[in-house]
Amino acid sequence: MHKDCKEILVSGEAITKRCEELGAQISKDYAGKELILVGLLKGSVPFLAELSKHIDIDVYFDYMDVSSYDGVMSGNIAVLTDLTQDVAGKHILIIEDILDTGKTLSTVMDLLKERDAASVEICTMLDKKEGRQVDIQAKYVGFDVPNVFVIGYGLDFNQKYRNLPYVGILKEECYM
Ligand code: IMP
Ligand code: MG
Repeated sequence: MHKDCKEILVSGEAITKRCEELGAQISKDYAGKELILVGLLKGSVPFLAELSKHIDIDVYFDYMDVSSYDGVMSGNIAVLTDLTQDVAGKHILIIEDILDTGKTLSTVMDLLKERDAASVEICTMLDKKEGRQVDIQAKYVGFDVPNVFVIGYGLDFNQKYRNLPYVGILKEECYM
């Protein structure tokens, strides 16, 4: 375990096992449909890589990187990296590392719906339900987590720890 990690919350093995279940469900739900997995950069990458291995229908990968403005510009987001394909009429599954307040994902969903996607749903590795500030739900959730700051498996603190092969709780002394 990394020295800055207080406790492992979800092991890499548990994530793989959950990805098998989610992948089977997604394959069933989207059978016969054209599905684009849209990974939100950068945190979703390890989860997207694992999950996609367990989806056995044809899928396309794409990525978005957005930064959200709070306060004055609440609800506005800047699209730093945009999709590389036209999504009109396509089914989109947004892949995210963690759903917390829900602000980022609700704005991304609105943006993608405006582009006339056939459907837009969310698959999040972690769901921090206590943090929610806007009404939004993920269709697929890997694990529910308590309201603590987590790192690893794509999740960062100041861009660090994304490479940890598990989800852990960051020691308080690392951000105090
Ligand atoms: P929100 O749902 O708009 O609040 O944004 C979710 C984003 O906040 C995620 O994509 C993460 O980048 C970040 N985030 C929220 N909670 C955590 C955490 O516990 N650890 C690391 N990043 C987090
Ligand atoms: Mg993120």
